[in-house]
Amino acid sequence: MRALRLIFLGAPGTGKGTQAKRLSDRFGFDALSSGHLLRTEAAAGSEIGRKAEGYMKAGELVPDEVITGVMLAGIAQLPGERAFILDGFPRTLPQAEALDAGLASADRPIDGVLDFQMDDALIIRRITGRRSCNRCGATYNIEFLPPKAADICDECSERLIQRADDREDVVVTRLETYREQTAPLVAYYQERDLLQTVDASGSADEVTAATVAAVESLDRGE
Ligand code: AP5
Repeated sequence: MRALRLIFLGAPGTGKGTQAKRLSDRFGFDALSSGHLLRTEAAAGSEIGRKAEGYMKAGELVPDEVITGVMLAGIAQLPGERAFILDGFPRTLPQAEALDAGLASADRPIDGVLDFQMDDALIIRRITGRRSCNRCGATYNIEFLPPKAADICDECSERLIQRADDREDVVVTRLETYREQTAPLVAYYQERDLLQTVDASGSADEVTAATVAAVESLDRGE
């Protein structure tokens, strides 16, 4: 497979992180999650983490100037010959434009954008059942994808937590934020002929099959 450069777009809880991990394991993609990066910064008490924390707890986007620089720096560190997935970035038009400019100057343009789609009722069910590992970033679901031992990460044995922004009232705000600020990116990438839609409502294995099919068609240049 070619060293594809991909964006995973979609509302919160549609399974972007789950599928990014599966593709990384299967094809050796580097996956960069803006949410995981911000949670790591917040846990470390860094300046970026302190700036981001309040927005994240409220279900709002952190300001473009806080996230864009740190994500572009993270992308610049990825080896040039490797495939990568950006999970959760960009999320606004200014972020998308800054990403395009940054990648153009490095001659590493985006090859495709996968838009994960699912209805809101299922999103709320999936997010409120999510349990996360703060150490390695793995995610589980008490209903759909439970860990082998209750509340313990399969990957690194850390105790799992429920994210502060996974409460139902915050999820509703996150969905509104998505519709207002991130959904316009669908048209942005459609106009650039980069968008593929993935039905995210099936089982994790079904969504993986759809994701792999989309990535393989991009690999063939379709
Ligand atoms: P972020 O961490 O990016 O949150 P999100 O986009 O809201 O995405 P999620 O992590 O909620 O969901 P996901 O699609 O990865 O789903 P998952 O695979 O976990 O961002 C958090 C916050 O950080 C934002 O609100 C914002 O404040 C800030 N932020 C981040 N990026 C930013 C940016 N670029 N600009 C500004 N602010 C930014 O799956 C969800 C659940 O479902 C899990 O329990 C999983 O086990 C389960 N599951 C997954 N797939 C399936 C399946 N097929 N069947 C059944 N269960 C499944």
